[in-house]
Amino acid sequence: MAPTVDLEARFLAYVAAENKVEPKHWMPDAYRKTLVRQISQHAHSEVVGMLPEANWITRAPSLRAKLILLAKVQDEGGHGLYLYSAAETLGTSRDQMIDDLLAGKAKYSSIFNYPTLTWADMGAVGWLVDGAAIQNQVMLCRTSYGPYSRAMVRICKEESFHQRQGYEIMMHLARGTQEQKAMAQDALNRWWWPSLMMFGPSDDQSPNSAQSMAWRIKRKSNDDLRQEFIDKTVPQAEFIGLSIPDPDLKWNEERGHYDFGAIDWSEFFAVVAGNGPCNTERLEARRKAHAEGAWVREAASAYAAKQSARRPAAGLPAKPHAA
Ligand code: 3HC
Repeated sequence: MAPTVDLEARFLAYVAAENKVEPKHWMPDAYRKTLVRQISQHAHSEVVGMLPEANWITRAPSLRAKLILLAKVQDEGGHGLYLYSAAETLGTSRDQMIDDLLAGKAKYSSIFNYPTLTWADMGAVGWLVDGAAIQNQVMLCRTSYGPYSRAMVRICKEESFHQRQGYEIMMHLARGTQEQKAMAQDALNRWWWPSLMMFGPSDDQSPNSAQSMAWRIKRKSNDDLRQEFIDKTVPQAEFIGLSIPDPDLKWNEERGHYDFGAIDWSEFFAVVAGNGPCNTERLEARRKAHAEGAWVREAASAYAAKQSARRPAAGLPAKPHAA
């Protein structure tokens, strides 16, 4: 058997040449572990992310708005399913990942621990939160693990619709009455900084980045993605007449980027540690939904077992007649 050192060197060369790693390929244990960590955190973020928006489905201001929001929340559930499936190809089970989430052991994105207080928050979440998510996820379409990268292609298409629906809400409010414009500005004020935190700690404080970049799991650094997001979003805010709540924000001609103020990392770390405004509420809602959905999972499993006994895999006899 080839020594692990050779296998690791060959693996690095393989991913450096932009090849995709597939579930049955040899991979370093740490690569597998990192992927399970990142993909499961990502899946949990999609599913927990349904909660702050679902809060507004019954209160959407029109039938059109309600339909769009319903579709968006449903999409997020679908994203969670693609991602749990991608993580399962690495040898972990969905039950295990969900148990870790419900036990409070697994992380999910900090952003979903903030409350959605007004209808304008549906605009700000779509525009900023989904906008930040796409900024990060477009690079993940080129991630080295095949099942993850393929899931991301579809997810990004749907996220871009989500970003547009959010911006459309903000545009309508910003061009509405004074109260509506104030509501949009208030939502932007509350969601701006937490959206910047979504990209993760600054590069010098990011323990996983260097290795994940070497393995081509991550393709751009946390700080580079954050900067790209700011550069793209500031003109969008200007276009609809809203102000970014950062007195230090200024175009830097020399760098060709916006300079921006200091991020309050103590807030970020407190939220990630479980002490954000809604951490407890979010986990309780997930635990309740999981417990109340137990009968659905049982019924679906019983139905699937019945179907597979009736319709055997091609070329194999059905179970009752098996030799
Ligand atoms: N919220 C919570 N935890 C975060 C975080 C955030 N915004 N940003 C970083 N962290 C955690 C990391 O998970 C890591 O914790 P761990 O080592 O205990 O697992 C720690 O902080 C250090 O951060 P690193 O930068 O070293 O971690 P990564 O290299 O994993 O980078 C990441 C963090 C950029 C978020 C990366 O994991 C990633 O790209 N993940 C996939 C995308 C994702 O999960 N997006 C969630 C956004 S929301 C969403 O998609 C829903 C959509 O519908 C809006």
